[in-house]
Amino acid sequence: MTTTSALSQPSQLQCIECGRISEKANANFRCPACGDLLEVIYPALDKFLREVGSQEVKQVWLSRCSSQLPLDQSGVWRFREVLPAMNAESIVTLREGNTPLYTMPHCARIAGVKNLFAKHQGMNPTASFKDTGMTVAASVAHAAGYRWVACASTGNTSASMAAYASRAGMRSLVLIPEGKISWSKLSQSLDYGAVTCQLKTDFDGCVRVLNEVVQKMPIYLLNSVNPYRLEGQKTAALEILEEFGWQAPDHVIVPGGNLANSSALGKAFLEMKSLGFVSRVPRISIIQAAGANPLVRTMRENGGRELIGVHAETLATAIRIGHPASWKKAVRILEVTGGIAEEVSEAEMALAKAEIGAEGIGCEPASAVTLAGLKRLVRAGFVKSNESVVLVLTGHLLKDPDFTLDFHRGALLAEDKQAAMLAFSRRAPIAIEASADAVTVLIKEIESSPNMQS
Ligand code: F0G
Repeated sequence: MTTTSALSQPSQLQCIECGRISEKANANFRCPACGDLLEVIYPALDKFLREVGSQEVKQVWLSRCSSQLPLDQSGVWRFREVLPAMNAESIVTLREGNTPLYTMPHCARIAGVKNLFAKHQGMNPTASFKDTGMTVAASVAHAAGYRWVACASTGNTSASMAAYASRAGMRSLVLIPEGKISWSKLSQSLDYGAVTCQLKTDFDGCVRVLNEVVQKMPIYLLNSVNPYRLEGQKTAALEILEEFGWQAPDHVIVPGGNLANSSALGKAFLEMKSLGFVSRVPRISIIQAAGANPLVRTMRENGGRELIGVHAETLATAIRIGHPASWKKAVRILEVTGGIAEEVSEAEMALAKAEIGAEGIGCEPASAVTLAGLKRLVRAGFVKSNESVVLVLTGHLLKDPDFTLDFHRGALLAEDKQAAMLAFSRRAPIAIEASADAVTVLIKEIESSPNMQS
């Protein structure tokens, strides 16, 4: 095996419910026999990796970081031995992945754990984790010769899809819920060249419409029911393991929306264990906003047997989803890894976001549910203070400037009973006279009052 070895993993699609195996997917990525979701499997992977040896493979993955080849520079494709086979010419990459793992000492103290890290997926080319999956699924569409790709989105998938489609010379169609995505994300899909349609419905309604459209026209569906997206998203887990010297952390905490990312990370950890790359997997816990909590309700009320859909409402628009497509995959990951589904209030999320920001990191509201959820898991005794924890920050701070400004100006949750607890974390802009004296007086005031702008 060399650093440039062929992209050689043949893959198949397997239904997660009835187990039926197929070579090609239908337009809606549902099992033709039972209608459930599909996942990618690699029949020859086990044999291939055992022949090469896990140490050799880990070494090659790492060595590609210093290569000049575009595929090696991608934090997704440098792991190509565990991704679907693809002609190198078909691959569309923006050098996604290779995102930083930050230590979070300030948030660790707040949450009550000693070893806290943030895997910042907002540091991807379009500023969310979606890019890691999009490079794989968009490449599959490109290789198959599609002219059009499409997604329904709460804003990040659409931004990512639009960028990758344009790079590959494909047209892209975006369906978004009118008025329910941040203008920052909307501006991305416009600039990257997508045909962007605002529908008078929510995310779940957009998904319904798009599913009909792809049955009527040769348009490739890039929502996360597309299992190739999850293969790319797996690589964040491989990077975490690499960064931990191939020892799994105790806990990985992920926000839950349509529930694909938690499933993708879980799949990667489980694959690495079954291939003998690691001896154990982390517990994967999924955090939802209390107003958009179908998984939490499903786990609590029927142990994960049947989805309890909800009418979703949360200021974290990225995860404002009431009927998550990948709920069954997420339930399985919770069960197999021993993780938990938890919910947090809007105020808990807003506070956590400002705390992450004060660490110099910054993320979008949906990502901040991870820290808010961790605090609850520590209080419940589920996470012990000496255990290592990785928060997956899914999107960048600049994805939702309105939320951040409203929070710091005190306008976010004005009538919320918990809003008072947020006051100490607010850092509103201060209007002062345009003079050096005014600035000096202000700094002296801040220095003598520990609670002011701390
Ligand atoms: N965090 C962010 C920033 C997101 O954009 C999303 C989903 C999630 C978390 C949840 O991930 O759906 O895999 O459970 N955003 C999708 C979108 C739905 O359209 O951009 P999930």
